[in-house]
Amino acid sequence: MKKNSMRVLSGIQPSGTLHLGNYFGMMLRMIKYQNENELFCFIANYHALTTLPNSKNLKKNTFNAACDFLALGLDPDKSTFWIQSDVPQVTELTWILSSLVNIGLLDRATSYKDKVSQGLKPNMGLYSYPILMTADILLFNSEIVPVGKDQKQHLEMAREIANRFNNTYGDIFNIPKEDIDQVTQLVPGTDGKKMSKSYKNTIPIFEEDKKIRKKIMKIITDTTDIDKPKNTNTPLFELYCLFLEKNKQEELKLRFQNPGLKYGDVKQELFEIIMDHFEPYRKKREELIKNPSNVITILKSGAKKAIETAEEVLEKVRSATGISLQ
Ligand code: TRP
Repeated sequence: MKKNSMRVLSGIQPSGTLHLGNYFGMMLRMIKYQNENELFCFIANYHALTTLPNSKNLKKNTFNAACDFLALGLDPDKSTFWIQSDVPQVTELTWILSSLVNIGLLDRATSYKDKVSQGLKPNMGLYSYPILMTADILLFNSEIVPVGKDQKQHLEMAREIANRFNNTYGDIFNIPKEDIDQVTQLVPGTDGKKMSKSYKNTIPIFEEDKKIRKKIMKIITDTTDIDKPKNTNTPLFELYCLFLEKNKQEELKLRFQNPGLKYGDVKQELFEIIMDHFEPYRKKREELIKNPSNVITILKSGAKKAIETAEEVLEKVRSATGISLQ
């Protein structure tokens, strides 16, 4: 057993190409957790299904997301790592919890409202998204849930549903705590807004050199004269700092504050740093992609471990609710 170990759980939607925002916002933090804590980590393909991707893409994105995690250092021997749909117990718990959730709670979900206001035609899956997410969390008696700031409300809903269940049927569930890291908000996209796939402002990690370079060259800068000091409250400075130790950040700041700095040079440096930083992970990822059956074996054995924990909790739920006759 790891010392002072807490049970940490998080899921990530397989949404396509991994970018710096995903990496610094969530993945790095989760991978760090595996050394000191009991980490449960899964690819949320049922959540992805709510926006109806075509089946080929869903399959490809799910597999790639698993490879991304494994390449970046998620260790299946130190953690439990699986694909959400390989643990069908989560759908059973979702149904049971659904009966305890008032429609009013779901109507308040801002992420649902946002998607609808963007023109997405809502389906029941999208509407129930927070219940499925609650089931993910409660099914493993999670204590800590690292998420991005945009998931804060979903976590509040999970706590509310857990409390409602416990008040109705007795104390079965642990009430999970969120872990929202400040860094999450500090990964700007190329346009200065939060880096996010939906803003089309991402810098990918595992694409070809050319594509990555092109994105970096697109980072917005101002028209300050070469001879003038430059603003450090800018996406170029902030992105670069993500790869630097404190003292190196200070050095960069001085370069920005002194005359003579060319944005183009800084962008080229940033490109090289990014390529160097991810080079070993890129190699590992290529290996994984070449051997899909190994990846699937890892995922299936993760699911088996996850099912053991899930069944223990679910057995209590079935019994407390009167679903089980024993
Ligand atoms: N909704 C989360 C996101 O989009 C992904 C997710 C699904 C999740 N189930 C979860 C995160 C359970 C934490 C815990 O980021």
